[in-house]
Amino acid sequence: MAMDQRLERIKLTALHERIVSAEQAASWIKDGMAVGLSGFTRAGDAKAVPNALAKRMQEEPFQIDVYTGASLGSGIDGRFAQAGIVRKRAPYQSDPLMRSAINSGDVQFVDHHLSQTAEWIRGGVAGPLDFAIIEALGITQDGLLIPTTSVGNSMVFAHHAKQIIIEINTAQPLELEGLHDCYAPQAIGSRQPIPLVSPRDRIGTKGIPVDPSKVKGIVWTNQADSPSPIEPPDAETDVMAGHLLAFLRREVQAGRLDKNLPPLQSGVGSVANAVLHGLLDSEFEGLELYSEVLQDAVFDLLDSGKALFASASAITLSQPYMERIYQDFGRYRERLVLRPQEISNHPEIIRRLGLISINTALEFDLYGNVNSTHIAGTKMMNGIGGSGDFGRNAQLAIFVTKSIAKNGRISCVVPFASHIDHTEHDVDVLVTEHGFADIRNLAPRERAERILANCVHPEYRPQLRDYFDRAIARGGHTPHVLDEALSWHAKYMRDGTMLKKSP
Ligand code: COA
Repeated sequence: MAMDQRLERIKLTALHERIVSAEQAASWIKDGMAVGLSGFTRAGDAKAVPNALAKRMQEEPFQIDVYTGASLGSGIDGRFAQAGIVRKRAPYQSDPLMRSAINSGDVQFVDHHLSQTAEWIRGGVAGPLDFAIIEALGITQDGLLIPTTSVGNSMVFAHHAKQIIIEINTAQPLELEGLHDCYAPQAIGSRQPIPLVSPRDRIGTKGIPVDPSKVKGIVWTNQADSPSPIEPPDAETDVMAGHLLAFLRREVQAGRLDKNLPPLQSGVGSVANAVLHGLLDSEFEGLELYSEVLQDAVFDLLDSGKALFASASAITLSQPYMERIYQDFGRYRERLVLRPQEISNHPEIIRRLGLISINTALEFDLYGNVNSTHIAGTKMMNGIGGSGDFGRNAQLAIFVTKSIAKNGRISCVVPFASHIDHTEHDVDVLVTEHGFADIRNLAPRERAERILANCVHPEYRPQLRDYFDRAIARGGHTPHVLDEALSWHAKYMRDGTMLKKSP
């Protein structure tokens, strides 16, 4: 009988005997266990064993704690939520069914900076992990596990879990090999500086070193990542991109930024992708990205020659981009690197590189506090993701949002943010389709004036001005009418709109 060609992917031949079915591997996961799954913004997620786990619930009820890199694709979070098998979930998700399970209190969600989960696993704060379930392209002779479209937290999971299940996904392009740079910081107390001074630097190994004795099973999969659902740029995001460019141009003219710009980070979602896309038609050249996720716009920048290099922890593309990029991935490989998320999002490196970070807000307030996570202060959307890692440590922390949501029934600029992920101290520039507010080196009252003038939708400007004027009359360094500070959100919950009728 001909040899199964897939075995060539497992060069460490002693592991051939560990091949099992997804169902068999899933049967090892028991009630009360903690598992670490590969996967970061729908990329490189373990697929077969999690799906088999969700099915097993029909025969035998159980609950587990699930740690990942970031959001999972392939409907896994949704199926987990429907099956009711997750007790605790960290550090990020973006699935509608998981979101409702979190908001109903059925799943305990730990919303956590993406750079820090690895420290919690290493330090014993999260876990201990019983299993790491990790998607791979293959395993080298010397026991390096080659990741696929993300690295995420797979390295720390593989090193700290008691046992490892590897999913070898034959649907992922083999050209991904050589893309990864796997580096783990030393233990706290004897930690050395991370030797990365440029987004292009490679400081680790091409795969994750694993202890073969911990590999309990290897499963085959043949399933592509889920495409990203991002919306293409629209007229408003084009205008927002224009404001961002105007700000960057002004900084270059003032001599505060080099004309090639420091490395850029761009967050998840349609708005961040669209705004980054705006750089395509700009005069900026020789760009580099040091980000956590590379979305569609980055590949357009690479194709156009505007961007020369991109470093991240994952590649997450819409369906048309996935088809185009992976058909000829070889042409990008020398210009990309994927790293563990604690390195892509590491405060030390972000500060050293002087990043310009661009992330999306749900809302921000008169004084520049930003809410990225909670609808009306209570309902979780996705999670803080890496926005805090980048926002706090970047040279320029830029937050973008459309000025209104839900056809104008919500103003995204409010008297008081209903939840604060990024405080006024961490936010440098705010951008909406009405303009940009550079709030650096401004006192709270100066910030409010600038935000009122440049960011608020004209329909909401009079009522925000009225609030601010009455707040000033009461005094204070950061003036508020406290019993009205969250009244816009309360009004939306009550009347379905934040807009007050004009008298
Ligand atoms: N109140 C209530 N809902 C709001 C809102 C507000 N102030 N602002 C936006 N929304 C709604 C939109 O109407 C839309 O709803 P829909 O899905 O029903 O259409 C939804 O939120 C998403 O808004 P959208 O404008 O499409 O934004 P996006 O796709 O760019 O995502 C975030 C925006 C904030 C949800 C997303 O960027 C995120 O999860 N950020 C946190 C993590 C992060 O920044 N990571 C980056 C580090 S790399």
